[in-house]
Amino acid sequence: MELYKANILYSRSFDEMVVFNDSCIAVEDGKVEGIYESVPDKFKNVKVNDYSGKTIIPAFSDLHVHAPQYEQRGMGMDLLLEDWLNTYTFPEEAKYKDIDYAKAVYDRFSDDLVKNGTFHAVCFATIHREATEYLVKNLEERGIRSFVGKVNMDTSSPSFLCETISESLTETEAFIEHTACNRFSKPILMPRFTPVCSQRLLEGLGKLGRKYHVGLHTHLVESIWEEETARKLFPSFSCDTEVYEALGLMDNGPVIGAHFIFPSENDIRILKKHGGCAVHCPEATVNVIAGIMRVSYLHERGINLAIGTDVGAAPSVKVYRQIAEAVRLSKIKNFYEGEGSPSISFENAFYMATKGASSVFENTGSFDKGCDFDALVIDDLSDEQRRLTPQQNIERFCYCGDERDICAGFIRGKKNNLQG
Ligand code: GUN
Ligand code: FE
Repeated sequence: MELYKANILYSRSFDEMVVFNDSCIAVEDGKVEGIYESVPDKFKNVKVNDYSGKTIIPAFSDLHVHAPQYEQRGMGMDLLLEDWLNTYTFPEEAKYKDIDYAKAVYDRFSDDLVKNGTFHAVCFATIHREATEYLVKNLEERGIRSFVGKVNMDTSSPSFLCETISESLTETEAFIEHTACNRFSKPILMPRFTPVCSQRLLEGLGKLGRKYHVGLHTHLVESIWEEETARKLFPSFSCDTEVYEALGLMDNGPVIGAHFIFPSENDIRILKKHGGCAVHCPEATVNVIAGIMRVSYLHERGINLAIGTDVGAAPSVKVYRQIAEAVRLSKIKNFYEGEGSPSISFENAFYMATKGASSVFENTGSFDKGCDFDALVIDDLSDEQRRLTPQQNIERFCYCGDERDICAGFIRGKKNNLQG
C-alpha cells in the first residue's frame, strides 16, 4: 500500500473533469484503491509520499506515433502528405533495414516517450521485422502498455520500401508469433493506408488477424488525396473503412483509425459498429494534411476519441502539447465553419489524451477505483503573484510546460527512474 498526497485531477467523461484539492490517493498492488480528503484511520500507519502543492494526473496515451520518424521531426513541414511521404518519410524509413540505426533511434524514442509522461502508446514501425521487434522489446522492458505493428506496404511504394505480398504476410506472421506473449507491448496489424496496400495483401492480413486475434491500426480517411486514391484502387467499396471491414480486419481486437478527418456517414457507421477509436493528431494534420477532425460531431455520434502526436508529422512526442493544439484548432474550425463545428473545451481535449484511450488500454487514463496507477506528478507552475487552481495548473502545463515539470512518474504504481 502507498499513499500520495497532492491535488488530484482526472477526467470522468468527455465533459467532466474532477479535482480533489490537497487529498490523498491510495494505491494497492499498482492499482488505485481510493481517493480521500485526508489519511483515513485504516491507513494511519502507512507512510505518506508528500507532493503537496503539486498535481497528480493520469499518464498520457499516444494512440498514433511513428517511432521511426523520430529523426525527421520538423522537416518538410511546408509539404503536403503525398510529397512529404515521398521526399522525407519513405527514404527515412528505408534506413530501418539497418538494425544499428534502428536501435539508436528506438532507444532515444522510447526514453523520450517515458520522459514526457506517455505510458501507453500505439506505435507505427516500418516494414522491417527485426527493427520492429527491437522497438517492441524496448517498450516491453520499460513496461509501456503498447500496440506495435510491422508496417505493410506492397504497392504504389518506392522500390526501396516495398514488399511482395508473400514477404509481407510471412514477416507479419513471424512478428506476431515473436511478440504475442508479451505482457505490455503487443502486436497489432498495421497496413500503412489503402493507397499502398493491395486487396490480396489486406485479405491475407484479415486472415492473420482472425488466426492470432490481433486488431488493426491504420491511417483512415486521412486526406482528400488519400480517400480519392483509395476509391480508385478499391472501386467496389464505398469508403475506406468498408475496405477493412469487408476484408476481415475489424473483428479481431482493437480498431484504431488515425486521423479520420474526412469520414463519410458510412465510415462513421462502420467504425462505431466495431467499437473503433478515432485518433485526433492535431498538429500533424495541419502540418501535412491541412485538415481538422470534427471532434464534437464524432463524439455526438458515439465514436471513441483519443489523441496522437503522429511524430514525425508533429515536432515532439509531447501529448500534452496536442491537448493545447486540439483546443486551438477546434476554434479555427468553428470560426470558418460556424455552429456545425463547435469548438471543444480543455476538459474535452484532456479527456481524449487520457481516459479517451481506455477504449484501447483498459483501466488506464483515470483514477477511478481499480485503475492502474499510471500517473504523473506535475509541478506547481503558479507565478508568485497569482496562485493557480489545479485545473489551471494543468492547462498551463499543456501550453507552456515540458518534461522538466514532470516531477515523478508511476507505471502501475512503480516509480519510474526517467522522471524526477
Ligand atoms: N499516411 C501514410 N503514411 C503516413 C505517415 O507516415 N504519416 C502520416 N501522417 N500519414 C501517413
Ligand atoms: Fe501517421
